[in-house]
Amino acid sequence: MSKTFFITTAIDYTNSPPHIGHAYEKVLADVIARYHRLKGESVFFLTGVDQHGQKVQQSAAKAGVAPAEFVKGLTQQFKDLWKKLDVKYDEWAETISLRHKKVVQGMLQRLFDEGQIYKDKQSGYYSVRQEQFLTDKERGPDGEFGPEWGQVEFREEENYYFKLSRHKEWLLRYLDNHKDAVIPDFRQTELRNAVERIGGDLCISRPKTRLDWGIELPFDKDFVTYVWFDALTNYISFADYDPAASTFNLQPSAFRDRWPALQIIGKDILVPAHGIYWLIMLHAVGFPDEAIPQLLVHGWWNISGTKMSKSLGNVVDPSILADKYSVEAVRYYLMSDIATGRDADFSEERLIERYNADLANNLGNLLNRTLNMAVRYRDGLVKQAGGDSPLAAQVVDLVRSYNAAMTAHEIHAGLEKIGGFVTACNTYIEMAAPWKLAKDPARAEALDHTLFALAESLRVIAILVSPILPKAAHGILYQLNWSNDYALSDAKWGGLPSKHQLGNPVPLFPRIETST
Ligand code: ME8
Ligand code: MG
Repeated sequence: MSKTFFITTAIDYTNSPPHIGHAYEKVLADVIARYHRLKGESVFFLTGVDQHGQKVQQSAAKAGVAPAEFVKGLTQQFKDLWKKLDVKYDEWAETISLRHKKVVQGMLQRLFDEGQIYKDKQSGYYSVRQEQFLTDKERGPDGEFGPEWGQVEFREEENYYFKLSRHKEWLLRYLDNHKDAVIPDFRQTELRNAVERIGGDLCISRPKTRLDWGIELPFDKDFVTYVWFDALTNYISFADYDPAASTFNLQPSAFRDRWPALQIIGKDILVPAHGIYWLIMLHAVGFPDEAIPQLLVHGWWNISGTKMSKSLGNVVDPSILADKYSVEAVRYYLMSDIATGRDADFSEERLIERYNADLANNLGNLLNRTLNMAVRYRDGLVKQAGGDSPLAAQVVDLVRSYNAAMTAHEIHAGLEKIGGFVTACNTYIEMAAPWKLAKDPARAEALDHTLFALAESLRVIAILVSPILPKAAHGILYQLNWSNDYALSDAKWGGLPSKHQLGNPVPLFPRIETST
């Protein structure tokens, strides 16, 4: 039996509504998941929400509602958004669920029983926003803790610690032996440098006296676990991991068939959360090196070069964008205007510009012209005629370079390849000038040849674009009157029968008109 392709994203904090950064990450994961489904692989796509922790407790208190009620409303907003944006996940993670709590507690108990967790007293500066104690390394050049830490206060308390530093050497060796542990490369270097600096252990508890919105430690009911220990565990708790299995090989087959995952996260949560805590947590509970997940680290969408933030009031609501411009416009923009791993600048003008140029003018036009001419000259019946089309050779190159880009998770590059081919098809129409061929009965075969090649090209384009634009792909195939049940292997020349009746042209990407 072949392995399942398992893909996860960060789980979003339910302390504020979803924004364009959240949407980007989930659409990226959805596109990768759809691409692998298209290849015929079995796919398990897990995403969800991070519902515990101090930020949530604080936001709920501010809103004057109980945390449980507060997260319910926000969780629904995230779910509604994914539904609207066609983000099709296979499992949904909610950290307040019992299923999750059992795994988190099982992991904690195991580490405690093995002497990997101990109790100690700590005093120092604590960042309320980041929910962590700060060390001198976090101080800026001026000796102060920067604004990124938010409110910083002095604290002294007893807590439980996870023996993180004893695994430092392992993590260094692991990274040295696995050059693709983190993508892109420069993020792996960043992580490697951070691991070198690991000094102490990780505090994994919070006294209930100051935070009770969390999962209780199974060995001390006066504490809840640190929100990151809780949240990171979602990647295995919702994939059927059994914390009671004594060795990795005794895990249920459902888990072993899936794991390890490709994990998509933003650049802010690589160090220390995923790159250090998470990889070490897995190693500490007995995951072998081959079962350590790969981290795909994406960049951030900024607004005019600055960070999006509630206080700046520049947060973009993806749901409003989708209502205004269509789901396909939003998905297309988010996937085409950023290089995976890099940052990008979000702008609504840019969204409109790319949609109009690439979808309305280029792809939409190709579809519409092809169908209109086929209906006008041939009542929609296209026939194979003449020899090989020059477009057939281009399709071979297109599919090869598209696959290379998509396998490397470089969606923007995959879209560029498709766009290049769409442009070539439009140029081909200009060169072949079907409107001239139609006037000359002696050139009937050349006209058939041209129309058939264009329909066949559009069929391939629809299949390749389907992970990014599932609705549009469906629309193209519907107009081509071709089956909606297809695989990546159908993206090759020769799929249409030698005589094929096309459907009716319907504009798929109406231009977005802006008042100037
Ligand atoms: O960090 N552009 O949740 P979160 C692109 N709950 N991506 C962005 C972004 C932006 N402007 N802003 C945020 C958390 N993100 C934790 C994760 S995982 C066990 C727990 C990304 O809601 C961010 O990098 O703050 C992260 O990957 C995701 O959105 C959720 O961010
Ligand atoms: Mg964050």
